[in-house]
Amino acid sequence: MMQASINQLQNPPADISALIRRQLIMPVKRWLLLHYYIDTSYFTRQPDRVWLEKQLLPKLRRIKQGRILMVGCAPYTCDYPKHFNKGVEIITVDIDERNDIWGADKHLTADILKIDQYLEPASCDIVLLNGVFGHGVDAKEAQEATYNVLHRIMKPDGLLLVGWNHDLIQDPTGLPTCERLYYKDSYENLPQRMTFAESTHIFDFLRARPVMTVA
Ligand SMILES: C[S@@+](CC[C@H](N)C(=O)[O-])C[C@H]1O[C@@H](n2cnc3c(N)ncnc32)[C@H](O)[C@@H]1O
Repeated sequence: MMQASINQLQNPPADISALIRRQLIMPVKRWLLLHYYIDTSYFTRQPDRVWLEKQLLPKLRRIKQGRILMVGCAPYTCDYPKHFNKGVEIITVDIDERNDIWGADKHLTADILKIDQYLEPASCDIVLLNGVFGHGVDAKEAQEATYNVLHRIMKPDGLLLVGWNHDLIQDPTGLPTCERLYYKDSYENLPQRMTFAESTHIFDFLRARPVMTVA
């Protein structure tokens, strides 16, 4: 476990320049980019994105406590960590350090395949893994390794949302490691699998099998 990184997540930045950068410079830069340079409207009007933002996020924002890990950051996701209850800790992670600016206050620049070096075992209630399989984590072996490492940091019966595109990859929920470590479930009246007529995107809700039941 990388102690420095955990401290970096749990405590505010120790030196004043890092604090100013995170709390002042980055929000201003983000605001300028979103208002004058980056047009996110193509992404935000996609049916899968509308479902994520209008159906799923409001339900997640009703949660009172716990830890949620959001994997992969983009200009159109930078508001996702906002408006959660105070008892909910949001952590974002992206392998690309340029996406630091779109992350939550608690952000990690790291490979999801190494997330267990940063977060404690069984510490996450929910993991949102949307648009990562097929957009960086492409090989089946890497996807299986991702399921393995996420299972380590997830609480028993913790929720894993996998968002993927059927024109980019084969069904990642059919992988043996997925079937061994997770079971399919619905969430808060949302279907276990959500598909869209006008999009190749698919969302699957999975839950981490408790360790005792993992063969
Ligand atoms: C298509 S975007 C998806 C962003 C966001 N999760 C969403 O809901 O749209 C894919 C993101 O995953 C990140 N990514 C790709 N491979 C990764 C890895 N191995 N570990 C962490 N992040 C990764 C990329 O840098 C990129 O920002």
